[in-house]
Amino acid sequence: MHKSVLLDECIENLNIKLDGIYVDCTLGYGGHSEKILNCLTTGHLYAFDQDMEAIEFSKERLSKVSNNFTLIHSNFVHLTEKLNELGISKVDGILFDLGFSSPQIDDAERGFSFMKDAKLDMRMNKEQKFSAYNVVNDYSENDLALVFFKYAEEKFSRSIAKNIVKARPISSTMELVDVIKRSVPTKYAITRHPERVIFQAIRIEVNKELDVLGDALPQAIELLNSGGRMCVITFHSLEDRIVKQTFKINSEINDLVRGLPIIPDEYKPKIKLVNKKPILPSDKEMNENSRSKSAKLRIIERV
Ligand SMILES: C[S@@+](CC[C@H](N)C(=O)[O-])C[C@H]1O[C@@H](n2cnc3c(N)ncnc32)[C@H](O)[C@@H]1O
Repeated sequence: MHKSVLLDECIENLNIKLDGIYVDCTLGYGGHSEKILNCLTTGHLYAFDQDMEAIEFSKERLSKVSNNFTLIHSNFVHLTEKLNELGISKVDGILFDLGFSSPQIDDAERGFSFMKDAKLDMRMNKEQKFSAYNVVNDYSENDLALVFFKYAEEKFSRSIAKNIVKARPISSTMELVDVIKRSVPTKYAITRHPERVIFQAIRIEVNKELDVLGDALPQAIELLNSGGRMCVITFHSLEDRIVKQTFKINSEINDLVRGLPIIPDEYKPKIKLVNKKPILPSDKEMNENSRSKSAKLRIIERV
């Protein structure tokens, strides 16, 4: 099972109203959604996931709480469009708990894990055609090195990319791990496990994780009712940077009008930061769930 990260902190900060409308953009195995649903009487929860297995599992889990929910099998990049199709134009709270869930990693067949042999895959949405196989086998050496450098900040990006191109075709996770290990000094391979960050970088590229986050956050801000809250949990410094920047831009007065006696409405801040510094998991949570160690929670409120 997936252990939900920063669960109480999210529920507390969403300020859930009994009759409110809430959106969980990353349903996963339903941990956060279940808690939100438990707080609602006449309210409704809309929950997105691009992974059909997560949708099917959570449907059963949430049905045990109430019927006040709608599950949407879609990438959250289509947030506004999908909600509008259901007649929803404003909501009272939105949650993003980014990344992957434990069952996705644990299921060797999905190809996310560098510890289990499987076909190169890493698609969160199995209906998508583009997979880790395409990144590893079709990208130019230069583009591969760029992906590794940008998303993994791996100093041996160039030599890993070069050896991948030489070893093509590569079709399994273990073949890829082997090439990565051969591309770095032995001591570095043993102490730093570069395969961990290289796999993460490929996963980010396959699922375009940073692009969709950058597109979805402004939509989420627009969807919030005044007083509505948004909680975002990130696990990667680049994700957190996108969240922090988007929140900063939308919570400050635009430079163009700073100092004017009257600020036109369209230039006024749309949101206020609920916490200036991100909330981190407690020591207890980090000890009980190692996946939570890199988690950061940022919260805003629509003004
Ligand atoms: C960390 S898990 C969520 C766990 C959940 N909060 C819980 O407590 O059980 C993230 C989930 O979001 C989904 N996901 C990630 N990026 C997505 C995207 N762009 N659109 C839709 N779902 C996404 C993944 O498939 C995964 O199931």
